[in-house]
Amino acid sequence: TGTATVTIAIDGPAGSGKSSVSKEAARRLGFGYLDTGAAYRALAWHVLDLGAETSDESAVQDAAERFPYAISLDPDRYWVRVGDRDVTEAIRDPRVTAAVSGVARIPAVRTRVNALFRALVRDSGRPGVVVEGRDITTVVAPDAPVRILLTADPDVRAARRSAELQGEDAGAVATALHRRDAADSKVVDFLTAAPGVSVVDSTDLDFAQTVAAVLDVVAAGTQTH
Ligand code: DC
Repeated sequence: TGTATVTIAIDGPAGSGKSSVSKEAARRLGFGYLDTGAAYRALAWHVLDLGAETSDESAVQDAAERFPYAISLDPDRYWVRVGDRDVTEAIRDPRVTAAVSGVARIPAVRTRVNALFRALVRDSGRPGVVVEGRDITTVVAPDAPVRILLTADPDVRAARRSAELQGEDAGAVATALHRRDAADSKVVDFLTAAPGVSVVDSTDLDFAQTVAAVLDVVAAGTQTH
């Protein structure tokens, strides 16, 4: 009998440090890393690439049904593909970022990508996978032995995001981030912790401290007696 893959579920809003912290935690644990937001981004990119509107719900659903999506679970060699196109960079484009909430709010789309996520974890070939997103602790992997909500003060998140996107107007970045939070939180409540979910608040923590705090929660949750 095979050993089940350990899932470390991490949710949180944009700019909480979720992606970089999850990736580093995966490296330190020797686990895979699954960025679920990248799947929604890749689907939004795919819909735009097909020349459809992301507001056209049936076009988005059709695209999701036959979505030729592949993602690396290797935290050291991260890539995302749609068909034979490498979209790792393209899915960070502001055009995709602006369109992605509209794609992610469609229930049939969420059901479809959640099935992809569960298959990726199951077939990862690794002892565990750090899965990060918005509804991992509540919908995708509610039974995970470790579930974490990574939060940070909204202004701190906006400042971090604009530091990442150098050259773009800080005010515009903050406005876009708050608008996306508002749109996304209508679909999934990722700002409050569900029962049993540990909160790590990174407002006053640097990157290394946040990784350490996450690994403490992992150690406590995966202890075997
Ligand atoms: O984490 P991110 O910014 O790359 O996520 C992209 C979008 O996908 C975000 O606007 C919300 C959505 N998303 C979601 O609805 N559920 C997830 N599990 C992950 C992301």
